[in-house]
Amino acid sequence: MAYDVITHEYDVVVVGGGGAGLRAVTGMAEKGLKVACLSKVFPTRSHTVAAQGGISAALGNMGEDDWRFHMYDTVKGSDWLGDQDAIEYMCREAIPAIIELEHFGVPFSRTAEGKIYQRAFGGMTTHYGEGTAQRTCAAADRTGHAILHTLYTQALKHKAEFFIEFIALDLIMEPDGSCVGVVAWNLNDGTIHVFRGHQTVLATGGYGRAFFSCTSAHTCTGDGNAMVLRAGLPLQDMEFIQFHPTGIYGAGCLITEGVRGEGGYLTNSEGERFMSRYAPSAKDLASRDVVSRSMTIEIREGRGVGPQKDHIHLHLEHLDPEIIHSRLPGIAETAKIFAGVDVTKEPIPVLPTVHYNMGGIPTNWRTEVVAPTADDPNHVVSGLMAIGEAACVSVHGANRLGSNSLLDLVVFGRAAALRAAETVVAGTKHRKITGGGVEKALARFDKFRNADGAIPTSEIRMTMQRTMQNHAAVFRTGDVLQEGCEKISKVFDSLKDVKVSDRSLVFNTDLVETLELDNLLCQAVVTMYSAVNRQESRGAHAREDFPDRDDERWMKHTAVWVDEAGKTKIGYRPVIMKTLTDEVEVVPPKKRVY
Ligand code: FUM
Repeated sequence: MAYDVITHEYDVVVVGGGGAGLRAVTGMAEKGLKVACLSKVFPTRSHTVAAQGGISAALGNMGEDDWRFHMYDTVKGSDWLGDQDAIEYMCREAIPAIIELEHFGVPFSRTAEGKIYQRAFGGMTTHYGEGTAQRTCAAADRTGHAILHTLYTQALKHKAEFFIEFIALDLIMEPDGSCVGVVAWNLNDGTIHVFRGHQTVLATGGYGRAFFSCTSAHTCTGDGNAMVLRAGLPLQDMEFIQFHPTGIYGAGCLITEGVRGEGGYLTNSEGERFMSRYAPSAKDLASRDVVSRSMTIEIREGRGVGPQKDHIHLHLEHLDPEIIHSRLPGIAETAKIFAGVDVTKEPIPVLPTVHYNMGGIPTNWRTEVVAPTADDPNHVVSGLMAIGEAACVSVHGANRLGSNSLLDLVVFGRAAALRAAETVVAGTKHRKITGGGVEKALARFDKFRNADGAIPTSEIRMTMQRTMQNHAAVFRTGDVLQEGCEKISKVFDSLKDVKVSDRSLVFNTDLVETLELDNLLCQAVVTMYSAVNRQESRGAHAREDFPDRDDERWMKHTAVWVDEAGKTKIGYRPVIMKTLTDEVEVVPPKKRVY
């Protein structure tokens, strides 16, 4: 079908209205660039709103701290897969980034002296692993909510233009490999749009919804990641999936790590605080991969709680109710609603739950998308940037530390604005599109709009989610992953037989879910194939058949491509082991213990 396409010309187009997207558009508009922000939901409903415990920065409000300690912790947390130039940048810039948020109006919790309140979080230490750092700046347990709303008002103040309930369909790529914009569908009135930008910035979040049980919103379908794959570009480190130790058993809702930061702890069926056996020093505040594995071992060895012995208890009933009331009000409410638990009296039933994607669109620390070529592992794709959970900068490597995610959003959202202001001259004319990118995007849209197969979208999605949950879990083996590859490829093929029953263009949620499923499926495929290929254990990728980290063979980023038939190609790219400045030294690899 032919569509009347409405074309818009901007200096920069940002896809995604979460924390990263809003910080980027604010900075770009402030620099005088004409910027459009496309969001498939109202911006303040983006998944950033669900971030609870806080945002890290070595402010030192609660005791001694230094951004170099933060950098060390982040490199160690990443299990030496993080790029150290980018990690240095993030940890150093964290301090001004928080002050800037405070000036923007974020209502942080306060200490008695009126400073920003900071709590302990997993893996955050002082003196290179010696003490415990209180580094996570909090607005009670609703920090993401506070930041997202504040950034939205800033973006409006600077006159960024919003296109709300616009679903990005595909990137417009030119024969020279550059990106010149994006094609989008306005769900509200059914119109089709082309947004031209000299830079297109993907801030589309993660793809948690590829799994059955996750803390992610239903909107977390990794749409930008999928657009990158369809553009013939690779994703990076997709095998690294973070399981948050404390999702509510059965419901999956997040219970913040801030609970353990405020003194909460985990027990098994014997009432034992088992974390001291696995992480003698950090205990319940070890990094997330370590805690999730320990909980899984307890359950596997028969020490889980409940009638099925299949989960763990998280206690905070010993905490002063005033602390719960002032610092953890949100999780008290969530636990009541989703687990029927009064946290002042009884423990919360919890289970490791999919929470975050360390992998994503490879970028350099300036947020420009990179795609390795035969002669350049860091080749920059012209006109394309990525930020936030969609991106793999890579500051989180094989495992992200809690509260480094909100930080990543604001630091690299700002970095994208700075880079766009350096590379784009406001008002520059757009060249003619020659590569057929718009027609290609609309052909895919039409294919799904008219899909008349036999299988409902929801059925394919459920098979995909169960396959991912069972075959790309906390612990993995070659056999289980191999079987997972075969199964997920079959699910991918089954999309050819999908049935979309609604043909309308206005608020057609059946079609939206099918487009999102298509996006999820290609990411599920590259995740499983990347995981079977990596024959070592590192961070969140725990192979029982290869239990050790193998720096000799595997200290490298996975780059994975997938074609239209679902066939993957895998390559590798070196980890960046150099710093940006001489203010700090590279953290050399060593055994990771907590
Ligand atoms: O536990 C939490 O509050 C989550 C924070 C994060 O993922 O950074």
